[in-house]
This record gives sequence, C-alpha cells and structure tokens, in this order.
Amino acid sequence: MPTYNERENLPVTLGGVFEHCPDVHVLVVDDGSPDGTGELADDMAARDPRVHVMHRGEKNGLGPAYLAGFRWALDRGYDVVCEMDMDGSHRPADLPRLLDEVCGGKGVDLAIGSRRVPGGGMEDWPWYRDLISRGGSWYARMMLGLRVHDMTAGFRAYRASMLRRIDLTDVQAGGYVFQIDMTRRVAAVGGVIREVPITFVQRVRGVSKMSSAIVAEALWRVTVWGIRRMFI
Ligand code: GDD
Ligand code: MN
Repeated sequence: MPTYNERENLPVTLGGVFEHCPDVHVLVVDDGSPDGTGELADDMAARDPRVHVMHRGEKNGLGPAYLAGFRWALDRGYDVVCEMDMDGSHRPADLPRLLDEVCGGKGVDLAIGSRRVPGGGMEDWPWYRDLISRGGSWYARMMLGLRVHDMTAGFRAYRASMLRRIDLTDVQAGGYVFQIDMTRRVAAVGGVIREVPITFVQRVRGVSKMSSAIVAEALWRVTVWGIRRMFI
C-alpha cells in the first residue's frame, strides 16, 4: 500500500484489512511523508508481524512505489500481490472477493476491483474526477485495444507468477498511468484479467495526490503506446 501523508487513514484502513483478511501481510511503501505516516507505520509494524514498512526518500510517484513493493514481495516468495489505496477509497470488505479470484483454481492472473462493471460504482466522487477517469479508461481501451473497463483502478490482486513474467525494470510510468501500463503488460503476455465489481468511496480524511501532471503523463503515454501498437 503506497502512502503519502495518510497518517489518519493508516490505522483505520489496516484495521479493516486485518478484520476481513487476517492472514495477509501488508507492506506500507511510504515516500517520506512529512505528516509522520512512515513513523506511525513503524510503530504498528513493531506491534504486528503482519505489517512491514519500506521508507523511500521523497515523493516519487505511485509507479516507482509499487514497483519497489512488487520487488520486495517477489523476493520474499509471496504467492499473491495486491495493490490497494490507503485512504479508505478501497473498502477492505471487498478484498476477500479479489483474493478469491486469483487464489482459487479459476485461472485468473489479475483481478481488478472495478467501478465500471455491473454491480460496481462510486460514492461521492466529484463529477470532474469521474469524467477524467471515465474518459481516460475509454481512451486507453480504444488506443490499446483492451477490453478492461476500469483501466486506472488501483485495487488489484496479481498472481505472483504473472508479475514474474513481466519485465518490471522496463516500466517507466510514474503516476496513475502505471495502472494502465500494468494492465497492458499483463494482457500482452496473455494473462487472464477479470474485473470484479467494487464500490469506490470518496476519502473522508486527507487529500488526493491527483494533479494535472498526472493526467498529462497518462495522456501522452497512452497516445505513444497506442501509436506504437499500430505500427509495430
Ligand atoms: N508512496 C507514494 N508515493 N504513495 C502515493 C503517491 C506517491 O507519490 N501518490 C499517491 N500515493 C498513495 C496515496 O497516499 C494513496 O494511499 C494512494 O496512493 C492513492 O492516491 P490518491 O491520491 O488517494 O489517489 P486518488 O484517489 O486521487 O486516485 C484514485 O483513482 C485513480 C484513478 O482512477 C486511485 O484509486 C488511483 O489508484 C487511481 O489510479
Ligand atoms: Mn484516493
């Protein structure tokens, strides 16, 4: 779980995760949050062996934080690696259904907690965020020829064997487009992707790290990938 200034959310979200999935381990990847998220995570890790913390020097984007987290998990032999926001937008109650897709014998390599399949949705998200996310998913679907409806979704479960088949050192996406990049890479190696409906709830504490630079990066990267795909 990547964090930047999520001190107030950390205990609530981790409490929820362990309530619904007592057997999981959580790695908090903190980019030197000035609000002390990293220190609080250290305190929790000292009391609970399921909690682990990775401290990174400075705020460096969602992509690099997740790549470092994936590496950590793969080096330790975990079978399944999840992505989840710390701000409460991803309900811990939905985690068992995501895990069930990749842990059972269903042959799913990547389960995506999706707001854009029947049964999924959003609560209290501002209309402009919905528009950007909806438009971004549509554009990426069209440019990349993928059938996933919630491309930027950040609530996911990967089978570790799938992550091992992807050259993670080649991933350059820094912001939320990282999610689109991972989706297209899983599809490119023939991975089975399933969207699981979830309800995404607006955070009640702290602020979003979304920015115009994140939108711009998504736009240009998807455009480049799409054009390259048409010619190669
Ligand atoms: N370590 C680290 N470094 N963590 C980060 C960074 C960073 O640079 N930027 C964001 N995070 C963490 C936040 O602290 C939070 O736990 C999680 O990543 C998601 O960030 P938010 O800022 O809450 O994202 P959002 O609500 O605006 O965006 C949501 O929608 C996007 C578009 O659909 C998330 O679900 C994203 O994953 C999704 O791509
Ligand atoms: Mn959020």
